[in-house]
Amino acid sequence: MYRIKKTLLFLIIIFFCCNNNKTVPQQVLGKKENLKYKYGAVSSADELATEIGMKILMDGGNAIDAAVGVGFALAVVYPQAGNLGGGGFFVIHLSDGRDVAIDFREMAPLNAHKNMYLDEYGNVIEDLSTIGCLASAVPGSVAGLLYALEKYGTMSRAEVMKYAIDLAENGFRIKPELANSLNNNLKDFKKFESTKKIFGRKFKGGEILVQKDLAYTLKKIRDEGKDGFYKGEIADKIVQEMKRGGGIISYEDLENYIVKERQVIKGTYRGYEIITMPPPSSGGICLIYLLNILENFNLSDNDLFSAENIHLMVEAMRRVFADRSEHLGDVDFYPVPVDVLISKDFARKMFSDFDKNKATPSSDISPVKINNEGENTTHYSVVDSYGNIVAVTTTINDIYGNKVIVDGAGFFLNNEMDDFSIKAGVPNIYGLLGNVANEIQPKKRPLSSMTPTIIFRDKKPFLVLGSPGGSKIITTVLNTIVRIIDFGLSLEEAIDLPRFHHQWFPDEIQIERELLDGKTQKRLLEMGHTFRQVHNFGRVDAIMFLNDGVLKAHSDMRGYGKAIVY
Ligand code: GLY
Repeated sequence: MYRIKKTLLFLIIIFFCCNNNKTVPQQVLGKKENLKYKYGAVSSADELATEIGMKILMDGGNAIDAAVGVGFALAVVYPQAGNLGGGGFFVIHLSDGRDVAIDFREMAPLNAHKNMYLDEYGNVIEDLSTIGCLASAVPGSVAGLLYALEKYGTMSRAEVMKYAIDLAENGFRIKPELANSLNNNLKDFKKFESTKKIFGRKFKGGEILVQKDLAYTLKKIRDEGKDGFYKGEIADKIVQEMKRGGGIISYEDLENYIVKERQVIKGTYRGYEIITMPPPSSGGICLIYLLNILENFNLSDNDLFSAENIHLMVEAMRRVFADRSEHLGDVDFYPVPVDVLISKDFARKMFSDFDKNKATPSSDISPVKINNEGENTTHYSVVDSYGNIVAVTTTINDIYGNKVIVDGAGFFLNNEMDDFSIKAGVPNIYGLLGNVANEIQPKKRPLSSMTPTIIFRDKKPFLVLGSPGGSKIITTVLNTIVRIIDFGLSLEEAIDLPRFHHQWFPDEIQIERELLDGKTQKRLLEMGHTFRQVHNFGRVDAIMFLNDGVLKAHSDMRGYGKAIVY
């Protein structure tokens, strides 16, 4: 009876409080420094996952507990990108002031080698790094979520995982968007017996999806912790799947997977302080590098979508992506010149050839010599009422990863090996180029673009955000920040308005929808730019701290997620 009442109360709260397009509900507490929310905020790519995050906050959990619960829930209800078989990053600001970056990126197996995706003539073998078992790196998600929970959470595994287990075991009503997405990938699913068993048919929105094998795996993790996944029965199932499918992940690889805690990347932009993800993500460094360039210009002198601003931002993007290709990789294997790349002087110097009237062909830009030594991904943001803030981006790389379900374990494996530079000069699925810094080595982590980010104003939290989108993650986060800080747009406008992207090669501005009017197009063409309209990209899930203790949260209208503040 109590449970029914509690569920009813929760549903009523959700009904009245959670329209993420309206001003957030304001529940004055009086205590907790006049916060006008009781529990906090959660924004994720799926409604059920967001509601689970909020339930965990209401159960007394902190933001880390809630984020871990959301992570496991997304593995059930958002198989496109939510995962047990992938990896990701946490950026956390703790209530005691500490900032933490948790790296649970996948690692290359011990038997991986530089030329593993090339034929005898040195040519890339089509699909080998993207579909099937050889495309998988050693998954980090389970280890990462449990590490965060044990070190920074307050609840038990059973408490944060019970909602996800219930959804896997008893099923959930799938959204039409998920049904469409599964149906669109049916051809690939049918290539693998294990995947065919679960997803080898057409789905309809509204039907109940039960995932017993996945529930079993989740229960093993709940009961045995990390060992329930990386050793014993589930490890057996992964290794057997590898044997059937020509993959190379071994027991030793699984047993030796390690989570790394790293120093956050710090930067400033017009007085705002930013913490974001260090390598093996390129996201944090590229974001700070871009903002350092833009800080030297008054963007708000021109309209947000003026040719002047688009030109300026695109010129910054092409230079930053050129340097990304050369200098960024896993810092445990390659001396990434982090301090140089995020310094304000370097940004100024690198942009000194900027011509405000003329596009620089990407072929004229080479990565600078420094004397130093992907929807497929998903982001979620959580804030609690204790002062903890969590930004998590996690991925299996391509949509449904390598398309292989581990037989009997019910989860998709990643195809993160494609995020390495599999051959210098050959673009990956996001068109990104790479070199030695990001070449394959055993135990190395492939370079990512994931950019979980937290921004502070006057030392107080201001914005938590991140996005999926492969290479476009970085520019999606950049677009959002600039719109809020330079143009004072609301969170919804900043996220929902069309975006643009440039990544050095291909040398084109990729634009969403009707971003450019005829006059702006003409001016950009005159400057020497080319552009291509692309399908919408990025799915920002963000939380913003307004004045007077009010929280605002928004889930990108491009997706079907949900943001709740309560
Ligand atoms: N797999 C996409 C990324 O990590 O950037």
